[in-house]
Amino acid sequence: MKILILPDRDAAVARCVEVIAATLDARPDAVLGLATGGTMEPVCAGLVARAREGAVSLGEMRSFNLDEYVGLAPSHPQSYHAYMQRHLIGPAGLDPERLRLPRGNAADPEAEAARYEAEIAAAGGIELQLLGIGANGHIGFNEPSSSLASPCRVKTLTRATRAANARFFGPGEEVPRFAITMGIATILRSRHALLLAVGAAKAEAVAAMVEGPLSARCPASALQMHPRATVVLDPEAAARLELRQYYETVHPQGREVPLG
Ligand code: GLP
Repeated sequence: MKILILPDRDAAVARCVEVIAATLDARPDAVLGLATGGTMEPVCAGLVARAREGAVSLGEMRSFNLDEYVGLAPSHPQSYHAYMQRHLIGPAGLDPERLRLPRGNAADPEAEAARYEAEIAAAGGIELQLLGIGANGHIGFNEPSSSLASPCRVKTLTRATRAANARFFGPGEEVPRFAITMGIATILRSRHALLLAVGAAKAEAVAAMVEGPLSARCPASALQMHPRATVVLDPEAAARLELRQYYETVHPQGREVPLG
């Protein structure tokens, strides 16, 4: 794993935007894996700003989002469809057909998950998979105890995850109990995984992911098996890493240092 500890939150976000832009520079029609959540909002804003400056072209890319709540129609404001529309598709003027998500309101969610997995494979797989991390170590909605070999499927959300995401829902509005999510195996098949974590609330999960045992207890620890995983952190999210000094020696302030 490449561990990059940036000087602050903004720098961590900017680094992720750079990696995405470099991927699209090399291949404008790359297939990206996209993520949602509060952490990704400034990443979307950064990409939109670059696209407006003409510094990156988003029009040819295709993407697959990690997950969607079961039972929410794309028009529901708290659906991840609506999130993508609000933060990326609308502001960047993209064709929504090119940015795919599982359909949370499909009549048969399990069948929809299998169809989504097949759609990703038919697109040639994912070049760059963007990831956030839940405070309990989830990636996508792969909650603790998720099979490390799991495909796209329906997962039951933990009470902690539903509580954490309640802030996005209105008062008295129920956070859905289930989600369709890419599996750990789906994520591990991406050619490059890029995880962004910022803030002290993620410090424990980050330490378990990077330095803990490979275990379904912390699903993000599966990234230890990814051939090319980059973890971008701010100092708060990196605070519990025991080998922090080593990571900072290899990549001072998150920089790439030429060998020799
Ligand atoms: C959500 C999403 C994840 C996201 C995580 C962290 O539940 N399913 O993809 O990475 O939780 O979200 P946040 O960035 O809001 O902390």
